[in-house]
Amino acid sequence: MEARHYLQFKDFTREEYEYVFERTRWIKDMFKRYVPYQPLRDRTLAMVFEKHSTRTRVSFEAGMHQLGGTVITLMTRDTQMGRGEPIEDVARVITRMVDIVMIRTFEQAIIERFAEYSRVPVVNGLTNEYHPCQILGDIYTFVEHRGSIHGKTVAWIGDSNNVCNTWLQAAEIFDFNVHVSTPPGYEVEPERAGLYGTGHYEEFEDPMQAAENADLITTDVWTSMGDESEDAERKRDFEAWRVDRKMMRAARKDALFMHCLPAHRGEEVAAEVIDGQQSVVWDEAENRLHTQKALMEYLLLGRIKTQGDLWST
Ligand code: CP
Ligand code: NVA
Repeated sequence: MEARHYLQFKDFTREEYEYVFERTRWIKDMFKRYVPYQPLRDRTLAMVFEKHSTRTRVSFEAGMHQLGGTVITLMTRDTQMGRGEPIEDVARVITRMVDIVMIRTFEQAIIERFAEYSRVPVVNGLTNEYHPCQILGDIYTFVEHRGSIHGKTVAWIGDSNNVCNTWLQAAEIFDFNVHVSTPPGYEVEPERAGLYGTGHYEEFEDPMQAAENADLITTDVWTSMGDESEDAERKRDFEAWRVDRKMMRAARKDALFMHCLPAHRGEEVAAEVIDGQQSVVWDEAENRLHTQKALMEYLLLGRIKTQGDLWST
């Protein structure tokens, strides 16, 4: 059987997400009650990091251990990849030795080449274009707090980066709307975002207008990993795209605030917002653990059981 990969958000159907979220709820509940659940004993996860990470590394590593498996973490600079070994060769070798691979790298094309030569499931732990595991956790968090995301409005304020692109893919799958506001020159590139073009997002020049009546306001760093040389220019260009209390007031009264983290207080978000009442950033970070455990279970074991009705997203 060919391995199933998770390289971008649209790799799963809505019905598969509902299954994965149902499993997430069950796995999270077991974890909170200290009930061991170890279906992945004897399974090994290899993680390859070409960029920094805190949440992705800890959540995958802790998650795999909690499911009974083991983890090997590779920082590319310490491996032969750092000395130019072709990604295709690395894929052929390590996927004969482990059961699942998570990669954080630069271009999406790199992870796609790896997956082409892989015998086992490959998971995108962030590329320049996408961050599907992040939005998996984010949508689970939204539904936990507010119920179905169907028909809701998410305001994306800031750079149209990997996290933004993934929100846009998710909107097409779950049928919600995204109001995007970026500074001029940083607009969404629909082809790079991998969209079907179903009209689930709208662009706004004015971030305050994008925030109006939103059910969720979310943002991310102005300078993503790999864009560091543009940092000074971006700090100037993005100055008016800070999520502050005034912007939160433009949204619905019960709007949530999310940020994938790490955050820069005083840049893309004011401290009063990220540390305020409407912020769910810590739940959002925690849910990376639970959703990715369900993701690994699904990729390795398929549908093991359903717990009644699927979760309504
Ligand atoms: N949000 C996220 O992916 O965090 P890390 O870069 O710390 O993994
Ligand atoms: N857009 C950010 C996300 C970090 C989790 C980056 O790519 O650096």
